[in-house]
This record gives sequence, C-alpha cells and structure tokens, in this order.
Amino acid sequence: MNFYFPAARLFAVFALAILLYGFIIPSVGFHGTLERIQDDKVEDIPSYVYPLWNFYQKGRYFGVNSPKEAKHNLKKMIEFSEEIGVASMPVWNFSLEAPNYPKEAFPKGLPVYIHFDGLSGEVHEMNTINHYVGMPSMQSGGPYERALAPYALILLALFFVLFIFYNNKWINRLMFIPMALPFIFIGFYAYWLHWFGHNLYRGAITIDPFMPVLLGDGKVAQFTTHAYPVIGFWVLVAISIFSFIAWWLKKRALKEQPINKATPVHHILMLFFLLIAVAGIAYLVKTDKEVNKLEKLAKLSYAPKVETPTKTEILESSEIDKQEMLKERDEQRKEQELKIKALEDRAGSIGKFKVTKLYKSNCAPCHGASGEGNFGAKLIGLSEEYLLKKLLAYKTNEDAIHIEIVESLSEEDMKQLTEEISQFKDQ
Ligand code: HEC
Repeated sequence: MNFYFPAARLFAVFALAILLYGFIIPSVGFHGTLERIQDDKVEDIPSYVYPLWNFYQKGRYFGVNSPKEAKHNLKKMIEFSEEIGVASMPVWNFSLEAPNYPKEAFPKGLPVYIHFDGLSGEVHEMNTINHYVGMPSMQSGGPYERALAPYALILLALFFVLFIFYNNKWINRLMFIPMALPFIFIGFYAYWLHWFGHNLYRGAITIDPFMPVLLGDGKVAQFTTHAYPVIGFWVLVAISIFSFIAWWLKKRALKEQPINKATPVHHILMLFFLLIAVAGIAYLVKTDKEVNKLEKLAKLSYAPKVETPTKTEILESSEIDKQEMLKERDEQRKEQELKIKALEDRAGSIGKFKVTKLYKSNCAPCHGASGEGNFGAKLIGLSEEYLLKKLLAYKTNEDAIHIEIVESLSEEDMKQLTEEISQFKDQ
C-alpha cells in the first residue's frame, strides 16, 4: 500500500474545501446581486443570497455611517441604500488616514477591501478622494478580472477534483496553478495599482503620476495610506502551501508506483463533480445574461487621460505663472478641505433617513442627509421646477462645485432627484 496517494488526496481536499468556503461559494452565490441592486431589480435577487451575504459579513468591516440595524442584514442594507460589498473573502486592504478624518469618527481610517470578484468598504468615499487627486474611480480597476474570477475559480476547483481522482504526472502539474494563486493576485493587483497611478486626469489637486504603495505605508497628497494583506490573502497562502504538499506527495507516490489506474467509481464521481461544475458555470452565465453583464463591460468608459503638467514643465514656466499656479493650488486645497469637512460632518448623520441612492451619493455629502443643508445650501422647501432649472443650469455653466457632479447625471436622474428633494420636509 502506497500511503502517499491518500495523503496527497487529503491535502488537495483541504485546499479545495477552503477554496470553496472562502471564495467559490460566496462569489458564485452573490454573483449579479450588485448589478441587480443598481438596476433597481431587487426582486430578481434569489432568496438564498440574503442569508449567504449575511453569513459572510461576520467580522467584516461595517461602515461608520451605516445604521446599526443594517449590520449583517442585506435586506436592510438595500432598503437604506447603503454601500454593499461583495461576499467573498477580502484579500487586500487599502486605507487612508488624514487629519481631516478624525480617529474617533473613522477608527479604521477609510478602508477599502479588494476581493477577487469586487470591492467592499468605503468605496464611495474613497472615490470622492480619488476624484480630488484626479484618479479614476475604484470600479474601473480590473473589470474583466472581476467578471471572470468566479468562472476561473470553478475551473480551479475542477482541477483539484481531477487531482483527487486521477494519478498521473500531467494532472499532478495542475497543482502549480493553485500554488501560484497568491502571486497571481499580487501580479494583477500591482498592475492595476500602477494603472491607477498613471492614468490621472486633472483633479482638484494636481499630483504627478506615481506608483501607489502595494504593501506598507505611503503618502498621497496630504493622506497617509496603508496597504496590507488581509484574511483572504492568508487563505490563498494556505491553499498554495497545501497544493504544494499535495503535489510533492503525489510526485513521490508516482515514483514508487507509476501506474495507478482509476476505478469506475472514480470515473463516476468525477462525472458527478464535472456536472456540478458545469451547472455552476451555467448559473453564472445565466446570471450574467440577466444583468446584461456583457453590455455593461462593453460600455465601460475609462476616465479620459488628461495630461498633467510634469515637474519640468512647472520648472520651465515663468516665475509669474508659478506664483499664479501656487495661488490656484492653494485655493483648490482650501476648497478641497471644505469638501472633506463636509464628508466628515456626514459621519453619523447619513442613514437615518430614507433617501434614494442618487441623492445620497451625489448631494447628501454637502446638502445633508435630508436636504437640511451643511456645506451646501438648505434645499428643503425648494420647488421641483426651481431645482430642475438650477441643476440644468449647473450642467452648462462653470459652477466649480456642481459641474462634476451634475455632469454624470442624466436628465432622467435629475427629474427623479428634484422630485424627491422637493418633497423633503423639516424634521
Ligand atoms: C461638494 C458639495 C456639493 C454637492 C456634492 C452638491 N452641492 Fe448643491 N450646493 C453646494 C453649495 C456650496 C451651494 C451654495 C452655493 C452655490 O449656489 O453655488 C449649493 C447650492 C445648491 C442649490 C441652490 C440652492 C438655492 O437656494 O438656490 C441647489 C438647487 C443645489 N445646490 C442642488 C444640488 C443637488 C441636487 C446636488 C446633487 C445632485 C448638489 N447640489 C450637490 C454644494 C454642493
């Protein structure tokens, strides 16, 4: 009896089990949910998605601004238009700290978590900051990778099943793929970080293209950044180590006993798992079809790359220009600080009222959770016509504050917004 064969199998089973638990089940189960929420098709979300998502939230980051009742409760999160992250294990964490994000209000800074199939954490807030330094929104990173991840994970699971039931050196070499998982992740992550740092457009404050820090602490404008691996990464490392052991054990086993034929039972079991994998992939395809994923991917528009002045250009410009530029930057910085102050004041106030996501993410940071006014004017009591007229005017004039926000809204969005705001009442 060659005991290396069952030992190799055992390690492959371990690796497969944690791969299923940490990544495959949550990412396949949650597939398409965010698109359905975004498209206002909440009723299409299958009922098992709710307990699944809730289960995977244990111990995860919960937004400082989110109402307590919504904790681990997808239904409530949708109801309150809260920001919802994907269910699979987070692999990397990126967070920002700044004097204007006080520790009391943001004990973890402003964290964003990177998953195989998406993001979680304070993505919206992070995008606001990115916007100021002229960085594209986080969602523009790795769109195809994220879309394909659940498919790739199912394929990987199938490799493990092959390994478990069949003994030959070619199938044994499939283990190189899970062994490389942590490196594959870091490779993609580094590529996209580089892309983010080198696709800057002209933001409120101008920074030179740079490589964001992959691991450890860094600085962007006045923000301190932290980037560290989290639970999902260590799980990938565990899968990698188990795969290595499994591969090594089987290599030894095959040396002692080069021919080890699979029995009919093995074939039948293999067929069974193959069918499960095919069903999983069919489910992903069906979901992607229903949420028009392909159209969404095709429509992806990247932020236009606007040339930022390089250091030498700044040096070459005349003394007067330089002073002018410094003055302008100073003003921009002041404006930015005001905006950040508004974001900060938002902590704790948002989520108390039921407003649409449209209002909440576009207007609430400055106009308050229910139009009561904050950094922006009070909007309560303004008529629908007046509001619409204003918004349409903002779209064409050079109003520095609104132009960027209003640009992204369609006329339909504006009508919806103004109808909503006109019904705001003093609390
Ligand atoms: C970055 C902060 C900020 C955001 C975000 C913002 N506003 Fe404003 N808004 C202001 C400020 C400041 C004023 C007052 C100064 C001005 O009129 O430009 C204002 C004024 C207004 C006024 C004029 C109020 C009046 O009494 O005439 C309207 C209407 C308005 N905003 C609507 C909106 C809507 C709708 C949104 C969301 C789509 C929005 N704003 C997003 C900062 C903001």
